[in-house]
Amino acid sequence: MTWASTWAAAGALALASGSAGAAEPDASRASGAAAGSAGRFPDGFVWGTATSSYQIEGAVSEDGRGPSIWDTFTKKRGTIEDGSNGDVACDHYHRYKQDVRLIAELGCKAYRFSVAWPRVFPTGDGTPNPKGLDFYHRLVDELLANGIEPYATLYHWDLPQALQDRLGGWRSADTAKAFANYAGHVAERLGDRLKTIFTINECGRFVPFGYGSGIDAPGLKLPQAEVNQARHHVALAHGLAVQAIRAKARADTRVGMAENITACVPAIDTPENIRAAEIATRELNAGFLNVILTGQYTEPFLSWAGTDAPKFTAEELAIISAPVDFVGLNIYAPQAYVVAADHPPGFQSLPFPTSFPHMSSPWLMLGPEIAYWVPRLAAKVWNLKDIYITENGTSSEDRISPDGRIHDLDRVMYLRNYLTQLQRAAAEGVPVKGYFLWSLMDNFEWVFGYKQRFGVYHVDFKTQARTAKLSASFYRDVIAKNALRA
Ligand code: BGC
Repeated sequence: MTWASTWAAAGALALASGSAGAAEPDASRASGAAAGSAGRFPDGFVWGTATSSYQIEGAVSEDGRGPSIWDTFTKKRGTIEDGSNGDVACDHYHRYKQDVRLIAELGCKAYRFSVAWPRVFPTGDGTPNPKGLDFYHRLVDELLANGIEPYATLYHWDLPQALQDRLGGWRSADTAKAFANYAGHVAERLGDRLKTIFTINECGRFVPFGYGSGIDAPGLKLPQAEVNQARHHVALAHGLAVQAIRAKARADTRVGMAENITACVPAIDTPENIRAAEIATRELNAGFLNVILTGQYTEPFLSWAGTDAPKFTAEELAIISAPVDFVGLNIYAPQAYVVAADHPPGFQSLPFPTSFPHMSSPWLMLGPEIAYWVPRLAAKVWNLKDIYITENGTSSEDRISPDGRIHDLDRVMYLRNYLTQLQRAAAEGVPVKGYFLWSLMDNFEWVFGYKQRFGVYHVDFKTQARTAKLSASFYRDVIAKNALRA
């Protein structure tokens, strides 16, 4: 059980108690009065789409790429629902020029992709493989030639298998050091054109799923103490990478992380519950975001972990909390509807009714209000000045109609509702600077293989044909207007 799910599973509803009132967002901070009218987003709002290397690239044995833990994991029987893997995926490695055109056709001025560590360092460290990095040189050049700003993530779960074999992956602090070396290398080589770097994507997923429940690669089921230690090593990797990037990149390079923050919402909008949701945001994200942004593991977190708490030094905490330029938040589903509680730590998570609505993926519960509350609460709790929504989107059945089109009305409904809430946050002065829709195109959806489709472009995995869905038209229209309404 994770720290977050412990709270979420907690028992009876404690009614609101008189805790300190919450600060309201400051409407005067909204960038331009126009932000509030006609559902407009602030001027300069960054619109993008997102993907990751293992999910789209394919070409797993080309140009010297080493194997990753996902290559190994997907080849084990029973790990992936449809028995598939990322060997070919969207064949983006060969089709990137066509895919960049798809991004341009949406009107996006930004694209978030990830660099495959085993392409750059086939065995994780040691001698780099220049041919591997060449792919990202080509991709970055193609993006820039199309007026699209590259936003690169350095780790979206495809750890070099050699580091798993040699060090036990994130069980070892040496993997954190290898990551920093790789981060510095990429920053140095691409830094003349790459201005925004995310270190780690979703520590909150790949650590518990990869090292706790064993659902994701590397498929380990370790005791909680080791899961907590692995998470600490990932936080350390982030901090060491920030240092390495600052040392090797140009001065104007910006660095942060993209995290699947545990999304908290006040169940009923009262000052007490809003305050409780702030506490929940801090405590349910204590193992990663909070330690990075404050340099401390909170007392409630440490006492929950007890003897399973991660071992750490003051020096490590200082490295982990190296200042970042922005925070990326991946938001899909609400995870904790909270009310105030008169017992520590001051909030109570309510149980979800089984009838709570969800999208085509059963885990993806529909809660548009997280697009308002999550950035608002995060900005308040950690005093953030630059927030990006680095992922948001949904799966859908996506059947091709007899007219050859894909009328993904459920995805359009989802996006419209989440973006409405995000616009409300921006209009109230919450510092959200951009939004990256997950995902550009259908791709390898981890344990679900190719069965769950998240793209705004449909991919026929037999022919590799890409077809724009209705949601692509919807998104293009929002981007063109920088607003939700005409
Ligand atoms: C991940 C993506 C994934 C998406 C949809 C996020 O947790 O970063 O890789 O495809 O959610 O499940």
